[in-house]
Amino acid sequence: MPDKDFYPNIAIDGPAGAGKSSVTREVSRRLKLRYLDTGAMYRAITLKLLQESVDITDLDLIAKTLENTDIKLNDQEEVFLDGKPVTAEIRSSEVNRLVSPVSAIPIVRRRLVEMQQAIAKESEGIVMEGRDIASKVMPDADFKFFLDASIEERARRRRKEQLDKGIEMTEQEVIAEIKNRDIIDSGREDSPLTRVWDAVVIDTTNMAFDAVVDKIVGLVRG
Ligand code: DC
Repeated sequence: MPDKDFYPNIAIDGPAGAGKSSVTREVSRRLKLRYLDTGAMYRAITLKLLQESVDITDLDLIAKTLENTDIKLNDQEEVFLDGKPVTAEIRSSEVNRLVSPVSAIPIVRRRLVEMQQAIAKESEGIVMEGRDIASKVMPDADFKFFLDASIEERARRRRKEQLDKGIEMTEQEVIAEIKNRDIIDSGREDSPLTRVWDAVVIDTTNMAFDAVVDKIVGLVRG
């Protein structure tokens, strides 16, 4: 299939540690499509609530804060909160701790989903990764993938990622963190992590990174 005039919308969902971000980034590079990490948007609003010491049970204040919040992501995957770069800050342990509960709040989801749909509309094809992309944000996506991996493998990847940042965690700590996130992300009432019936499921546990990317790119190119 020629690259020219080929602008598919591709949804990639899956739990934390299934390899979504690195795979989605490479797929978007190979297909020359825009990449959107929706988790980064949930992280940015979480950072804002932390900065402003907003009580996350105060829905009126959260609604007001959302009205006065501008989140932008550029092609270099830099994230800007109200015009200021926050690319590193949104990966802090404080944000890690609070992002799942914040992303379970319906008004937060409504606002961010609107923003994500607007970005998809103005883009000439997009690869979007998250938890509810195929089920909620782009139900009409041309291609839908669900990436998964065993909890041990996801923990191994997460631990390595943390070590690369100089943060040491035990295997038990990482597994507990992942399980906790899974429970919140999959158990929330509003748009939980969902595997839609028409998604291609890829278990990345024993797959090399390039094999996962090749599989997705191959299916999209047809
Ligand atoms: O992919 P990530 O770890 O950066 O995501 C951070 C959190 O955001 C995660 O706990 C779930 C939430 N999230 C979500 O609820 N919906 C999305 N589309 C993307 C992320």
